[in-house]
Amino acid sequence: MTTVFGSNVEGLSHKRRYSQNGEQAKVAGDKKTRLGESSDNANGNGTYASADNVLQVPSKGDELQDVSVGSHAHDTDVLAPVAPQKQISIGKDRHTNKYVFPHISRDDLVNARKFLKYYGLRKFLDSYLPEELNSLYIYFLIKLLGFEIKDREMVNAIYKHVELPEPSAPPRKDLIYNDFEDPLEKRHAVRLIKDLQKAINKVLCTRLRLSNFTTPDAFVERLQSAKSILVLTGAGVSTSLGIPDFRSSEGFYSKIRHLGLEDPQDVFNYDIFMQDPSVFYNIAHLVLPPENIYSPLHGFIKMLQDKGKLLRNYTQNIDNLESYAGIDPEKVVQCHGSFATASCTTCHWKLPGDKIFENIRRLELPLCPYCYMKRKEFFPNDSVIPSGGNGGSEDISAGLNTPLKSHGVLKPDITFFGEALPSKFHKTIREDILKCDLLVCIGTSLKVAPVSEIVNMVPSHVPQILINRDPVKHAEFDLNLLGYCDDVATLIAQKCSWDIPHERWNTLKNKKFNCIESDRGVYSITPKED
Ligand code: OAD
Repeated sequence: MTTVFGSNVEGLSHKRRYSQNGEQAKVAGDKKTRLGESSDNANGNGTYASADNVLQVPSKGDELQDVSVGSHAHDTDVLAPVAPQKQISIGKDRHTNKYVFPHISRDDLVNARKFLKYYGLRKFLDSYLPEELNSLYIYFLIKLLGFEIKDREMVNAIYKHVELPEPSAPPRKDLIYNDFEDPLEKRHAVRLIKDLQKAINKVLCTRLRLSNFTTPDAFVERLQSAKSILVLTGAGVSTSLGIPDFRSSEGFYSKIRHLGLEDPQDVFNYDIFMQDPSVFYNIAHLVLPPENIYSPLHGFIKMLQDKGKLLRNYTQNIDNLESYAGIDPEKVVQCHGSFATASCTTCHWKLPGDKIFENIRRLELPLCPYCYMKRKEFFPNDSVIPSGGNGGSEDISAGLNTPLKSHGVLKPDITFFGEALPSKFHKTIREDILKCDLLVCIGTSLKVAPVSEIVNMVPSHVPQILINRDPVKHAEFDLNLLGYCDDVATLIAQKCSWDIPHERWNTLKNKKFNCIESDRGVYSITPKED
């Protein structure tokens, strides 16, 4: 038997192509926007326009940070935003020779974002920017929209020429307002223009928060009246069962750092699999799903189904635990596929996924019985035997000149980065986003597109809740319930006087919790000490 340890993943020839793709994602902005897709495509008005829904590797180098999150920069309290009293005006201190930025209040920030969304780019720029300006105005506008630049060199260059007044200081009357000479280098000015464009795109494609949906009680009330709840789940809903999530410090990607991959996500990269399937099969045993267990959170979703309220559970998980909780397969979309079936990468022959579990556990490449003979021709020294089926000699791959190492290898039908999502996702999501009356995202960092875009697809009036251990800074939830999802689900079920169908419910239903608001719409939920 050929084991797949020790494969040389460093020398993969397509690495360059892969990082180029990553770079494209980065340049297109930090919203994982696809190339060729305008920012209007995910504008929160319920439209869903994407031609190429392949799984996207999350972009890493986010140079622009949205610091408005948690400050309710998007509250839709007032219908129309007010026009600024005057355009931005940045004076200069005649003694220090430094520019003095006006103080930006939370209202200023909220209004600027709303103004941009309501009136569009041209009116926004006309209303906020004077005709004469220097690049510090661009930086100020980025700040006014609620963003901070992370690049230290850039920030240092700016603050050599700028001072910030104390928030409580009265407006200065002794400043000079006619010096528009640009204190920054041209390259910095160009960067700022690009960053402003990113900030504007981000505001335009992010939803506005609802102002009247910020408490757990509002959530409970809505749960009781809702008829079509869309639940979006990620790895966090299974961690209480001992299954690691992906991106936490204890998560799967940090567990496989020792493999020395440039990016641990490469183990789920389709191109890499096709070049060298051993990269995946080296670690596949670590992600094999357990059987017959489910968490109280899975039970919570089943409870919504039993009450006739579950529209659909979109899960990014490949563990298939929803089925053990008794959630109707019709109600589940496994956005990233699952181990339930596997297919041959060459002839696409499909078989039940558990037929290759033994190979996976033994760190062997599972092979297609129909492509096996051809593979033997290509790789005569390969001692791996085919999995399942009766064996065969059909020459499906005739004509291939350069055999890939994946020739005739079976791959579980989980969606790899670079692969299209299962067709069920595309079939249901268009209708579901229009039908749903509540969106609840649970246990996900929302870093992987296109699933992460669901939050920007549902109509803006539909309340959105996050139940997660860590905040998700790049999305605008009306209510953030931060804590372990089993705890949050328990608290919410208690408040609704509902019972979660789970073996631990008898204990859980008496558990007490602290529910502390740290900011408007942001609650931290922890168990009370006895
Ligand atoms: P991540 O690991 O990116 O995020 C998991 C989130 O769950 C984190 O924000 C944690 O804070 C949170 N979390 C962990 N345990 C929790 C708990 N007990 N209660 C509440 N929250 C908890 O996982 P996903 O968002 O699911 O793709 O990752 C998305 C996709 O990226 C996965 O489907 C996977 C991965 O690459 C493929 O495998 C194809």
